[in-house]
Amino acid sequence: MADETQIDGALIDPVSAQPNFHRTESKIAIAGHPIHAMLVAFPIALTMCTLGADGFYWWTGDAFWARAGLWASGTAFLFGLLAGVSGTVELLLVPGIRARAASWTHFVIAVMLLSILGANWGYRLTMGYEQAVLPIGVLLSAFAAGFAAVTGWHGGKLVFDYHIGTSSTGKG
Ligand code: HEM
Repeated sequence: MADETQIDGALIDPVSAQPNFHRTESKIAIAGHPIHAMLVAFPIALTMCTLGADGFYWWTGDAFWARAGLWASGTAFLFGLLAGVSGTVELLLVPGIRARAASWTHFVIAVMLLSILGANWGYRLTMGYEQAVLPIGVLLSAFAAGFAAVTGWHGGKLVFDYHIGTSSTGKG
C-alpha cells in the first residue's frame, strides 16, 4: 500500500499537501484589502494610549488622565473585539489560513489579549476610574501593552512570512 506521506520515496508534508493549502487570500476584505488589517491598528494604539494615560496620572495626579485611561481602555477592548470578529471569520472561512498552525497560535494569543483588555476596562468601571489606576490598573495596562506588541508582531508574521491575507494575483 502506498504511504500517503511519500511520493516516489520523497517525504511530503500532509498539511501542505491539502488541496486548498495555498488559498490564503482574504475573504473579509474591501476590494481585496483585509478588514482585519485595517482594524488592528485601533486596539494596538489605544492599548498603548491607556498605558500612557496611566503613566501621566501617576506622574501628575490629574483626574483628566484617569478619565482618559477609562476611555482608552474601553475603546481598546471594543475595537479589539471588532478586530477579533473579523480575524476569526477569516480564520474559519479561508482554507489556507485554517490549515496553518500559526493562524491558530495568533488566535489564542489574541483572545488572551482581549481578556486582559476586558479586565482592564471592567476593573476601572467597577472600582472607579481614579481608584483603579494605582497599582492594578497600570499593571494591567503594562501587561496589555506587552501582549498587544506580541500579538501585533505575530499578526505581521502571518502576513510577511506566510503571505496570509495577501492576494496571489495582485488583483484582490
Ligand atoms: C481574535 C482572533 C483573531 C484572529 C483569528 C486573527 C487572525 C488574523 C489573520 C488571519 C491575519 C492575516 C491577515 C488577514 O487575513 O486579515 C491577521 C493579521 C494580523 N493580526 Fe490578527 N487575528 C485576531 C485578533 C487580533 C488582534 C486582537 C490583534 C491586535 C490587537 C491582531 C493583530 C494582527 C496584526 C497586526 C496583523 C497583521 C496585519 C497586517 O500587517 O496586514 N489580531 N490576524
